[in-house]
Amino acid sequence: ILYTVLEDHESASRHVAGLLVETINRHSPDTSGLCTLGLATGSTPLSVYENLCRRYQSGEVSFQGITTFNLDEYVGLPPEHPQSYLAYMRTNLFDHVDLDRSKTHLPAAHQIDDSHSAEAISRRYESEIENAGGIDWQLLGIGVNGHIGFNEPGATIDSPTRLVDLAASTIEANSRFFESTDQVPKQAITMGIGTILKARKIVLLATGAAKAEAVAAAINGPVTSDNPASFLQTHSDVLFVLDREAASAIA
Ligand code: F6R
Repeated sequence: ILYTVLEDHESASRHVAGLLVETINRHSPDTSGLCTLGLATGSTPLSVYENLCRRYQSGEVSFQGITTFNLDEYVGLPPEHPQSYLAYMRTNLFDHVDLDRSKTHLPAAHQIDDSHSAEAISRRYESEIENAGGIDWQLLGIGVNGHIGFNEPGATIDSPTRLVDLAASTIEANSRFFESTDQVPKQAITMGIGTILKARKIVLLATGAAKAEAVAAAINGPVTSDNPASFLQTHSDVLFVLDREAASAIA
């Protein structure tokens, strides 16, 4: 896995935003027309999105013609809940740029009910990605346990979009956004490892010392379900963008 180390969170975020702007502009409507991005949520990409909004405002980039697919969405939160990933994407990106809202997608986890199974919703997400021509450029974060999307340890290399249980450590880590741990959703619909590996290019952003072990295991360790990010070793176009702290355990 190729990786690049920048000084701190801000410079790593700027670097990723720059890569995204380059990709979008290369695919701009007057060239090939279509570009499909895979997007992540969480604390890590916040500065990336801030940076993209600024560059949009200054006329450096336009999101017209862009289609987006987010990695995951919590089960059990209404879409308008402030901690839903849909609300996150609206607040941090969608509401500030010229993305066509009908071309933005997140797993419709809130639609799960007696007549809409999680399996059917997951299958529909996979076919929406396929019908859009697949993902050109996928942004990832990484969990302290090596999860990508919500593919927790134990996930298999060919896993599709599906309903998953969140690991205890993930629920704990996410509880900082909720009033108490029992309000944190315990399940999500996530793109699978197999879904992620179909993206043509993958960029994983990780910053801070808490991610150092997971990053090192993903890069140097064996390819194993114990660290789902290690499956990225099997893809031919992956870049990790790290700050010094996140890179500190790489051999
Ligand atoms: C988010 C996602 C997760 C996060 C990971 C790290 O869509 O799929 O894999 O990237 O949990 O979260 P932060 O960035 O909050 O440390």
